Amino acid sequence: MLTITLIPGDGIGPEVMSSAVNVIEASGADVCWDIVNAGNHVYEKTGTLVPEEVFKSIEKNRIALKGPITTPVGKGFRSINVMLRKRYDLFANVRPVRSIPGIQTPFDNVDLVIFRENTEGLYCGIEENLPGGQAQAIKKVTGKASERIAKAAFEYANQNNLKHVTVAHKANILKLADGLFLDSVRDVSTVYPNISLNEMIIDNMCMQIVRDPSQFEVIVTTNLYGDILSDLCAGLVGGLGLVPGANIGTDMAIFEAVHGSAPDIAGKDLANPVAAILSGAMMLNYLGDTERSDRIMEAVRKTISEGEHITRDIGGNASTQKMENRIIEHLEN
Ligand code: NAI
Ligand code: MG
Repeated sequence: MLTITLIPGDGIGPEVMSSAVNVIEASGADVCWDIVNAGNHVYEKTGTLVPEEVFKSIEKNRIALKGPITTPVGKGFRSINVMLRKRYDLFANVRPVRSIPGIQTPFDNVDLVIFRENTEGLYCGIEENLPGGQAQAIKKVTGKASERIAKAAFEYANQNNLKHVTVAHKANILKLADGLFLDSVRDVSTVYPNISLNEMIIDNMCMQIVRDPSQFEVIVTTNLYGDILSDLCAGLVGGLGLVPGANIGTDMAIFEAVHGSAPDIAGKDLANPVAAILSGAMMLNYLGDTERSDRIMEAVRKTISEGEHITRDIGGNASTQKMENRIIEHLEN
């Protein structure tokens, strides 16, 4: 039996992660959980945001399923989420965005995967106040990190018989930083002659995606653009309650939904558990258990297409718990 580090997180984290755990267990997956906590609620009790046991557990198990953790705006600590990705060099943030039948959206044919560089860019933590009411944040780009995220994107396209990778950049203005990212992606693309590389400036790309998302298969981009594009694409398929994600390194991975801790609905049994559940399915797939991963995805799809036991964010009025129960019923039938 494989031990997974489970970080419930805060806000809606404990609710949706409980659903993810219950669904994974109902699938019969051969896993058990090492539950460790991090975040503000832990700080209030222990005086530390990320207790040593969290790091120890992740380092031992090398695989984690993680709930969202709140990051204060404009003050306080830097993001624990960003810190974990950087500390463990989880360089590929992989976010599949797919239409799910039964949800009313302008498009029913979205099927794309975002590969977001996860360790540098504007999120690498070089930020300071300067005299005279100024502040500066430095965007760091290295050829090494750019090449490895590009390679991850092209490998994914290759393995899944996809024909296009689109790189989103702003190399017209950020000629050196985004220029290096773009050149690195171009270099990697030459290794994959059967896959075309489309280059798109990020602002145009936002317009293109909301006009016709079906033109995109795999998107590779830097940290900040990838963060923003992920939420934009989530909006195309029905919202943040639906989109899972993975942070993948060379021999370690942390799976987590794209969404945050949603303080506006936390503790009310209203959160959509699907993004957390599908993150669990991605984890099983990563572990080689494609059969259970597929069955969980199918149970989610059935539940949504029935339309009766779905949460408020996607047009229903079921609670988190009711939706979870229905998904488990489909899984067991
Ligand atoms: P958010 O993703 O938490 O919420 C944005 C909107 O989407 C809210 O209206 C929320 O109710 C809704 N929403 C999100 N997940 C949902 C779900 N599962 N079901 C139904 N509705 C859902 O983003 P926001 O409000 O910008 O951030 C809240 C906190 O979460 C911040 O402290 C932020 O730093 C943190 N955060 C943490 C992340 C992580 O741990 N990986 C990722 C993103 C944000
Ligand atoms: Mg985000």
